[in-house]
Amino acid sequence: MTPVNFYIYISLALFPITDIFVISMDISENHENLKHELKEKLKCVSSRQDLEKIKLEYIGKKGILNQLFSKMTDLAANERKDFGARLNVLKNEIETIINDFSNNFSQPNTSEYDELYNSLPGKKPEIGHTHIITQAIREIVDIFKPLGFTRVRYPEVDWEYFAFEALNMPEDHPARDDWETFFVDLPFDKKMGRVVLTPHTSNGQVREMLKGKLPIRMLNISRCGRRQIDISHGPTFFQFEGLVVDKNINTTHLKGVLNYFAKNFFGPDRKIRLRPYDFRFTEPSFEVDIDCGMCHGKGCKLCKGGWHELGGAGMVHPNVLKAGGIDPEKYSGFAFGWGVERTYMMKSGTKIDDIRHIFANDLRFLEQF
Ligand code: PHE
Repeated sequence: MTPVNFYIYISLALFPITDIFVISMDISENHENLKHELKEKLKCVSSRQDLEKIKLEYIGKKGILNQLFSKMTDLAANERKDFGARLNVLKNEIETIINDFSNNFSQPNTSEYDELYNSLPGKKPEIGHTHIITQAIREIVDIFKPLGFTRVRYPEVDWEYFAFEALNMPEDHPARDDWETFFVDLPFDKKMGRVVLTPHTSNGQVREMLKGKLPIRMLNISRCGRRQIDISHGPTFFQFEGLVVDKNINTTHLKGVLNYFAKNFFGPDRKIRLRPYDFRFTEPSFEVDIDCGMCHGKGCKLCKGGWHELGGAGMVHPNVLKAGGIDPEKYSGFAFGWGVERTYMMKSGTKIDDIRHIFANDLRFLEQF
């Protein structure tokens, strides 16, 4: 019997039983009993979850130890100190027993983790995709390929000569104003002129002819620049330029190729029409329209009387063939040049109401395609 228990024993014999004595006695006996009981319970613990339950039972907020601490208020002031000190010792001992035991679980057991977290949603890896303009360019290339067209690229920063002079637009010709050109601040060359951001892909026409290989079936797709910005124009955009030069090429070939492209790109129920136009580098020249995907040529809010303008086309002007070193008496050709963005926007079901969205790099927009 410990001295404390002995004291309680004597007290009980000599004095009437009071609450204080009962509690004091409880503590002394419970001290060893509690630890024994805890050790017995731990023998049956085989998982972290079981251990957590035991921790809560003993040292949790509403656990056994806190319940004992709360009894302190029932004690007389002189008893509290001793009672509290002994409870603190008990608490430390219980914590040590539990901590020592929990070392058995220091390595998390994966199957238990699975059990605990299998309802957590997984992390979805972000997957990127090509930009819509890249998608459109690839689609355009694939459509022209079976007809024998090869994709090429020519400088996006080029001499004025290839953008204008070689295309039958001499210096100071008013037609040049239609290509609102960015001039680059670089030295002027007597023959080639100033350096420009190519305002159209037609700069590739004479460059292709100067390669000296005939016949020609060129598809030049490049970035262009013009001083323009509004809902349907951007200062930078892409064009695709077709050029065919061979013997006996005429307008029916041009119309056939454009129809083939339109049906493949826009859908078999769509059709094109040619309107007379004026370009200095083609004769005759045309503007090419596609029937509206909403009203099919009848006329609606979205179109100009049932049609949308696609771009320019025509039979290569003899002066352009000459600039490319080709004899216009022996060879003829056709060319066409359209904006990639605009063409893509006219695809059925593409609801892009402002061309500038395409280059704003807003993922909320781009992820839709
Ligand atoms: N280059 C012209 C433009 O930018 C389009 C065009 C190309 C027209 C080829 C005729 C032939 O508008």
